This record gives sequence, structure tokens and C-alpha cells, in this order.
Amino acid sequence: DDEADLKSRPPVVTIMGHVDHGKTTLLDAIRSSNVSSGEAGGITQHIGAYQVENNGKKITFLDTPGHEAFTAMRARGSQITDIAIIVVAADDGVMPQTVEAINHAKAAELPIIVAVNKIDKPGSDPDKVKQELTEYGLVPEEWGGDTIFVNVSAKQKMGLEELLEMILLVAEMNEYKANPDKRARAAVIEAELDKGRGPVARVLVQHGTLRVGDAFVAGNCFGRIRAMVNDKGRRVKEAGPSTPIEITGLTEVPQAGDPFMVFEDERKARSIAEKRSITQRQSEMGSNVRVTLDDLFQ
Ligand code: GTP
Ligand code: NA
Ligand code: MG
Repeated sequence: DDEADLKSRPPVVTIMGHVDHGKTTLLDAIRSSNVSSGEAGGITQHIGAYQVENNGKKITFLDTPGHEAFTAMRARGSQITDIAIIVVAADDGVMPQTVEAINHAKAAELPIIVAVNKIDKPGSDPDKVKQELTEYGLVPEEWGGDTIFVNVSAKQKMGLEELLEMILLVAEMNEYKANPDKRARAAVIEAELDKGRGPVARVLVQHGTLRVGDAFVAGNCFGRIRAMVNDKGRRVKEAGPSTPIEITGLTEVPQAGDPFMVFEDERKARSIAEKRSITQRQSEMGSNVRVTLDDLFQ
């Protein structure tokens, strides 16, 4: 892409951390604080990715299912997230999956923001968490380091505004951009078979703009976009970079982390999907295939 074709896009943020440290509660708290009453119906339903707006600026969040996609994509060397939020419960401190999350984020060279959660709990000790994290190279600014720490209580909805501000600060420094004026490339966040609608996938658009009617390949599946529903439950006709969107029109159910790409027509999409399926079967049978699945997307 020419620099001139690139336009600013919202940051994509993944929440990581040890089990039960409050990732989902934090996401739900951020979402419900940012959902206007007209959209309130949407928040009971759990979804894997959503966007909030803070002072006119959008932020895209990926929930735990997004973490699966994150891991799958990282394994093949591509990336769906820009910023990692590491959630650490202040009553529990640094635990094995906290360290794993830090290692993931560092390997992917992601900026890290630490959200020290559950500060409402008696016996919580945010400073102890800071102390523990210095061992992993995460040193707060007030101690001479450059890691942003925010104390929060997901349960009491404390510190959320500051957390959003810090995310936007990091986004401003990094100037995330994409070209919206081309065929879309996306990543599958989660997918399932819906009784009424058939295969449904939630995808995160990374480049280009996805439109109703587009022919695409998702993993080894193909299709044509029949309908798109945004994270507020509204039908839309197009979705640009950093937008999480639910799509129907797939022939099968793809997997979390599968790459998704628009092609010029359905015939082309079908033939790419078939080649990818054959290549995958061959590699599962142990044949020494030289074409990798990702090569077929090049
Ligand atoms: P997994 O997805 O299972 O890894 O857990 P999680 O990190 O998403 O944690 P979850 O949001 O499910 O929260 C775990 C428990 O901690 C729940 O009982 C929450 O109600 C509680 N919890 C989360 N945030 C807070 C908080 O800020 N304060 C208090 N007191 N409890 C919290
Ligand atoms: Na939990
Ligand atoms: Mg959770």
C-alpha cells in the first residue's frame, strides 16, 4: 500500500491474564458503560469482539474467544491485535497464566497495559502486583519504567475511564493505519452453526472494506456475504478496518483464527477453498506438501 492510501483505524485490544482475574467482567463493564440505552438489549448476549467509543474515538476489544484466535494466528505468524491488556487480580497477584500472557505479548511485540483489577477487595494490594511485575520487566512509570499501570475494579466499574484513556494514548503514539479502499482481509474470531441461519462467523476486518455480496474464502470454506450484523445487533452493508462483524453466507463453519479473504467472484473463492482443503488433507495424511495453506492466499 502507498502511504497515501492508509487511513487511521481504531486500535484492536486483546485482554489477557490468569483464569478468574476478571477479564470477562472487565470487558462487560467497559461495554455496558459505553452502550447507550437504545442498544442495551445487545449486552446480555456474550460476543467475542466489540467496539466502544470514547470521546469520539473508537476502540475494538477482543474477548477470551478472541484469545483463541490470537493464539492460532500467532502460530502462523500473523497478528490480529495491536495492544495487550494484562489483567492481574490485586488479591491474587502474578500467576502462571499472567506470565504466559506477558510472554505472548512480548513475543508479538505488543505494547502492554497492566490493569490491576479487584482493587475493591479487602486484602487487595496493587503495589505488590507492581513489585512482582518488575521481575518480568514491567516497571511502572513512577518507578522509572515505561509500563502503564491502571488500577481498576471491574465489579465496581472503577478506573475504566482511565484505562480507555491510556489505550487511546498508546494508539495515538503508534498511529494504527490500514487501506480501506481494497478487497477485505479479515480474521475469524469465532464461528458456529446456527439452527436458523446456518454457519455464522464473527470476523475482524483488518484491511479493506467488507461488503454484502462479497465472495470470500475463510480457512477452507468459501461463500458470499448474505448479511452482516454489527456488534450492536444492527444490520449493515459494509465494514472497514478494525471492525468486528458477524457474517452469514458461509458454506461451512470455519475455525477461530482462520484467515478470511475476499476474491473477485465466487468461482475463484470456491477454487481457492478447494485447493486449501486438498492441501490440508494431504498434510494431515503426512504427505510432504510444499505448498502451505497460507501460500494459497498469497
Ligand atoms: P476466565 O475467563 O475463566 O479466565 O476468567 P476471567 O478472567 O474472565 O474472570 P471473570 O470475569 O469470570 O471473573 C472471575 C470472578 O472474579 C467472578 O466471580 C467475578 O465476579 C469476580 N471479579 C471480577 N472482577 C472483579 C472485581 O473488580 N472485584 C471483585 N470483587 N470481583 C471481581
Ligand atoms: Na472465570
Ligand atoms: Mg472470562
